[in-house]
Amino acid sequence: MARLPTMSRCARSRLPISAFPNGAGAGYGFALLFMAKVYTDKDADLGVFKGKTLAVLGFGSQGHAHALNLKESGCNVIIGLYEGSKSIAVAREKGFEVVPTAEAVQRADVIFVALPDTKQPAAYEKDIAPNLAKGKTLLFSHGFSIHFKTIVPPPNVNVILVAPKGPGHIVRRQFTEGKGVPSLIAIHQNPGKNAKKIALAWAKGIGGTRAGVLETSFKEETETDLFGEQTVLCGGTCALVQAGFEVLVEAGYSPEMAYFECLHELKLIVDLMNESGIGGMRFSISETAKWGDVSVGPKIIDGSVKKRMKAALKDIQSGKFAKAWVKEYQSGYPRYNALLKAGEKHPIEKTGAKLRALMPWMQKRNTGGTQAGY
Ligand SMILES: NC(=O)c1ccc[n+]([C@@H]2O[C@H](COP(=O)([O-])OP(=O)(O)OC[C@H]3O[C@@H](n4cnc5c(N)ncnc54)[C@H](OP(=O)(O)O)[C@@H]3O)[C@@H](O)[C@H]2O)c1
Ligand SMILES: [Mg+2]
Repeated sequence: MARLPTMSRCARSRLPISAFPNGAGAGYGFALLFMAKVYTDKDADLGVFKGKTLAVLGFGSQGHAHALNLKESGCNVIIGLYEGSKSIAVAREKGFEVVPTAEAVQRADVIFVALPDTKQPAAYEKDIAPNLAKGKTLLFSHGFSIHFKTIVPPPNVNVILVAPKGPGHIVRRQFTEGKGVPSLIAIHQNPGKNAKKIALAWAKGIGGTRAGVLETSFKEETETDLFGEQTVLCGGTCALVQAGFEVLVEAGYSPEMAYFECLHELKLIVDLMNESGIGGMRFSISETAKWGDVSVGPKIIDGSVKKRMKAALKDIQSGKFAKAWVKEYQSGYPRYNALLKAGEKHPIEKTGAKLRALMPWMQKRNTGGTQAGY
């Protein structure tokens, strides 16, 4: 097991805490404490799954990726789907035995609940709970249902989390390329005393330990994951890109220019950040770009943005966001559907489709069918 620098509490921070009167990091109001253990391939044993059956319930974004990666890692995987699911045919075509959800739970030793978070409680009551038994393990890739208690499993089953820090399609793509998406594991309950071994083996089977696996809690994974997707990764980035595009087009610049500037190039810049950090990205860009970055950027994403990020985090921590999201689902997703529809109509989508068609290396993706057919 590799460990990030392990030193005394004080020395673990990048700068000695004693250097700062309030015991915090230099000007940032926090100390940089590396505490996480990082598990890699050598810490995980796929032998744990020898003679065992693994069930993946759902064959969506995460489900198809875990199922295919585990199968190619030598595990025995079956798929549980509801009658009439559009994914039955594609899962069979990919070589899986597909059975009704309840049967998959009954037959499996480890059960991955790869259903949408809002739909998990109903499937749990109807198909999962009645077929659970001592010795089985319930596995999630996001802690929502367990942390917010929309599902409360019996004490005689293991409840674990294996959460890749990336979209399902990338979990699959990177695995086929010999890479892996960093992942988190967490143990909620461990009556079998083997929960961690199972979590690590699963993480290895999907390629996570190739990159590095951190152990966390359901609470920490749930709250940070929701925060990230709302404020930075999905919500924050999409809103930033759309706003930039709108400002340029409203000022009379062509939509094609605006698309290249605000969306296409974002990936190229983020690739550099991904490879070598923000500092590394700045190494590649011009002095003029660097000056604009450091002098104008913080005026755009200013303290008021951070304040609203804190408010979003508070709503996540208090359960307010989860409560409202469950209510939205229970009333048939009216706002969710309307907002997504409006997003589809944003002029940046039409502009992008036209420009991406000019680049032959850009694989045309099917975003209207099954997740596994993407
Ligand atoms: N999407 C991601 O990249 C991502 C990343 C990290 C964590 N997660 C977590 O992974 C879990 C799954 O999310 P997802 O985005 O992968 O879901 P998804 O793409 O929406 O796929 C859900 C799958 O579940 C099936 N399904 C729905 N109800 C079912 C039932 N009662 N029994 C059996 N199957 C049923 C769906 O069938 P159809 O195919 O017929 O619709 C579909 O195959 C969630 O906890 C989510 O938070 C997702
Ligand atoms: Mg998420």
